[in-house]
Amino acid sequence: MAKIFVVFGATGSQGGVVVSDLLRLGGKYAVRAVTRNPESDKSKKLAEAGLTLVQADMNNLASLKKAVKGAHYIFAVTDFITAGNVQTETKQGLNILEAAKTTLDTLEAYIWSSLPDARTQPIPYQNVVHFNSKNDIAKEIRRSAVGRVLTEVRLGPYYQNFVKAPQDYGPQKQSDGSWVLMLPVNAATRMPFTSVQDLGRLITVIVEDPAKYRTKTVSVVSQ
Ligand SMILES: NC(=O)c1ccc[n+]([C@@H]2O[C@H](COP(=O)([O-])OP(=O)(O)OC[C@H]3O[C@@H](n4cnc5c(N)ncnc54)[C@H](OP(=O)(O)O)[C@@H]3O)[C@@H](O)[C@H]2O)c1
Repeated sequence: MAKIFVVFGATGSQGGVVVSDLLRLGGKYAVRAVTRNPESDKSKKLAEAGLTLVQADMNNLASLKKAVKGAHYIFAVTDFITAGNVQTETKQGLNILEAAKTTLDTLEAYIWSSLPDARTQPIPYQNVVHFNSKNDIAKEIRRSAVGRVLTEVRLGPYYQNFVKAPQDYGPQKQSDGSWVLMLPVNAATRMPFTSVQDLGRLITVIVEDPAKYRTKTVSVVSQ
């Protein structure tokens, strides 16, 4: 029987590419796509593509326990923007962890979408709050029994941001016809941009050989 792969954020950018790459493997995994709203247009598209939708809210532990029941693999991502603050995001990440602890009999890989800890970089920054929350969650995962099967993945800023929110992130056309990408970094800084599309392929590689990636952190940069 196909092993169960529970994907959080399945209607979003990260989980969306994970489920579509898993689907391409043609039934190798029984994919459960987590959403708060199975009736949304995005959810309906996933169902039409053949995915099993499961309704759960990261703020509701009971719903999460049902969603992950019997899982062999879990891809977990929280959404800082929707959470609205660092405390809520952290609690959501810990709720998913709490739910995952009920699957230890079957769980082979717990993939946590994290970000680098800005507080421990050579030049430390204390207040990159959505990086802090992801790392505080990661620390708790590592301390728990789920830590044995944990793989952390870290994505750079998506190239897709340029298209999704060009007014905020995209290069701006100048009066002389040139394009300038304005970012609050030194002009010589090398930025690790990522195509979020590459995450799906990475996840399929990790679950092909979970033991190889257990307790490891994989950073993703795309060219
Ligand atoms: N943008 C970037 O450049 C970038 C780079 C690296 C990391 N990140 C991180 O990526 C994370 C967001 O991931 P994304 O870009 O995939 O987000 P996204 O495209 O905005 O999608 C958000 C997803 O989260 C789900 N969701 C939100 N609140 C939920 C809740 N309470 N319970 C269950 N599901 C919930 C939504 O599902 P439903 O609405 O269907 O319930 C949706 O699938 C952020 O935390 C951010 O820090 C972003």
